[in-house]
Amino acid sequence: MSAATGLLGGKVVAISGVGPGLGRTLAVRCAENGADVVLAARTRERLDEVAAEVTALGRRALSVPTDITDDESAAALVATAVDEFGAVDVLINNAFSVPSMKPLARTDFQQIRDSVELTVLGALRLTQLFTPTLTATEGAVVNINSMVLRHSQERYGSYKLAKSALLAMSQSLATELGPQGIRVNSVAPGYIWGPILQGYFEHQAGKYGTTVEQIYEHTAAAADLRRLPTTEEIADAVIFLASPMASAVTGQCLDVNCGEFHH
Ligand SMILES: NC(=O)c1ccc[n+]([C@@H]2O[C@H](COP(=O)([O-])OP(=O)(O)OC[C@H]3O[C@@H](n4cnc5c(N)ncnc54)[C@H](OP(=O)(O)O)[C@@H]3O)[C@@H](O)[C@H]2O)c1
Repeated sequence: MSAATGLLGGKVVAISGVGPGLGRTLAVRCAENGADVVLAARTRERLDEVAAEVTALGRRALSVPTDITDDESAAALVATAVDEFGAVDVLINNAFSVPSMKPLARTDFQQIRDSVELTVLGALRLTQLFTPTLTATEGAVVNINSMVLRHSQERYGSYKLAKSALLAMSQSLATELGPQGIRVNSVAPGYIWGPILQGYFEHQAGKYGTTVEQIYEHTAAAADLRRLPTTEEIADAVIFLASPMASAVTGQCLDVNCGEFHH
């Protein structure tokens, strides 16, 4: 085991929603910054794959298959993490499933409920359950939001509804948990340039007879930096907010979008 140096040296970070995109990168990047990680999502195989990447970096990883919409499953996550590591310093709420992309007028209420159940109540359930150990460590929560906060484009209504409630909740939790020393912040990524978006651009390129490079350039033209942020760059903003570097920052939302939207 290497010495725990880095922005998160010696910290234990729990990540909810470890998928192939940002969740995986967050886990690897936290380990590179000195943290041990608790990995939670429903698919054990993926957790174990990411755990192997973390341990290859010399940090400890604990895979806990979890459904964050289920009280018992979420409680078991927290108990297992505290049992293994003694305490948890950081909770990152990243879990995600593709929301309804229909106009709100035609969106089935159950789809909206499911989205709120996962994005809002899932994050709140974990925050409630982790609060005792986060109080003990004067820890931090980072909620992964989205640039959907900053626009009202068609078909994003369900997603915006859930993510806006997540932002409101993060701000209220910052006020409520601040006296216990717990910081609560949000990161709102824009497009994330990684394998998932690349696959989508490849699909679009085939459909419209153009190239991935052209679609990338067209998309990036709206951003001040004329490029899209990488998964690693989003993860680094999360790590900053989770780290002692941000010890006076709470109740804030950091937009990471290469300047596509100003806030
Ligand atoms: N991708 C983008 O371009 C983009 C842009 C802006 C914001 N974001 C935000 O960034 C975050 C990560 O997005 P991503 O696409 O990169 O996702 P990801 O990290 O690849 O995966 C998220 C994982 O959440 C897990 N999950 C879903 N429901 C769950 C549940 N009930 N309990 C536990 N885990 C659950 C899923 O794994 P299981 O199925 O194994 O449970 C899924 O693989 C999201 O909050 C998203 O809103 C993404």
